[in-house]
Amino acid sequence: MSKTMKAARFHEYGGPLVIEDVPIPEPGPGQVLVKVAGSANNPADGAVRAGALQAMLPLDLPHTPGVEVSGTIESVGDGVTDLAAGDAVIAFLPMNAPGSAAEYVVGSAELFAAAPTAIPLADAAALPATGLTAQQALFEHGGLQSGQRVLINGAGGAVGGYAVQLAVLAGAEVIATASPASFDRVSAYGPAQVVDHTATPLREAIEGEVDLVFNVAPTPTDVLVGLVKPGGRIVSATSPIEQDAGAGVTGIRMGVHASAEQLDELVRKVDLGQLTVWVADRRPLEEINDVQAGGTKGKTVLVP
Ligand SMILES: NC(=O)c1ccc[n+]([C@@H]2O[C@H](COP(=O)([O-])OP(=O)(O)OC[C@H]3O[C@@H](n4cnc5c(N)ncnc54)[C@H](OP(=O)(O)O)[C@@H]3O)[C@@H](O)[C@H]2O)c1
Repeated sequence: MSKTMKAARFHEYGGPLVIEDVPIPEPGPGQVLVKVAGSANNPADGAVRAGALQAMLPLDLPHTPGVEVSGTIESVGDGVTDLAAGDAVIAFLPMNAPGSAAEYVVGSAELFAAAPTAIPLADAAALPATGLTAQQALFEHGGLQSGQRVLINGAGGAVGGYAVQLAVLAGAEVIATASPASFDRVSAYGPAQVVDHTATPLREAIEGEVDLVFNVAPTPTDVLVGLVKPGGRIVSATSPIEQDAGAGVTGIRMGVHASAEQLDELVRKVDLGQLTVWVADRRPLEEINDVQAGGTKGKTVLVP
């Protein structure tokens, strides 16, 4: 194995990503070294590079982005017994550690789950952080139960698409919002209703009230409150929201957290054919600046 690898790094906030030769990291105790098959792009990556989160999330510069990874274990550090070289894995990595936009990445072994076998390994990078966000929004924060009515606002995106599928699987009555570009794909996930958010205001399109809104679009909270039953909840991954959202509705501003156990469950659903992993585009790692700048439409996996 060569001692260096290609990695995308930015040297200052707001600066470009540069593909550089850097030393291959060594896995420390409790860590694994992964040969990256796929590194999925997330909307937050651009904000992190711009420095928008630097007070909350200071980085050691230069920094390699990439919180979602799929790949193969290359080697393991001391104390790692449940993973071995050759295992195909996925993980949601910490945002402030060197990320997956590289040929290799190191991460804590406890973050990794076995990769799905039903889809290409590189594509599996589109699952971890995105799928966990949907899972946690609906069930940890939203308390969604079978028979409840849920609005997934932003279902045309990567997180929203998983949320629609997971809510349908859980037996909820799902209303999804999607633009014409994503309408057919979202409809195929089986929601009861898809609202074209570019054509009809939500209040006009949705009859009655819902138990839960998962807001994963830039829609302001006040547009959503009137759609929810008193006692219901709005879980927002995007717009700010108060705990008392008004009209007897509880607001929850969520932040996704890592969970290998939840990843195992998502992977199981993928392998059973119950959860579709949507990859809109696959690009060479060298095109990361274009991808972060929005040069691709939809969930994009960078391949080193
Ligand atoms: N808080 C957290 O823990 C957390 C975790 C993950 C992601 N996020 C955030 O969640 C957001 C979505 O993430 P993502 O990965 O799913 O991004 P994404 O794949 O880029 O999806 C965003 C989608 O939202 C849809 N959209 C845009 N404007 C809309 C509107 N007014 N009404 C309804 N839908 C609209 C668009 O689809 P159509 O045009 O096709 O409808 C777009 O593709 C990002 O802001 C991200 O930073 C937060």
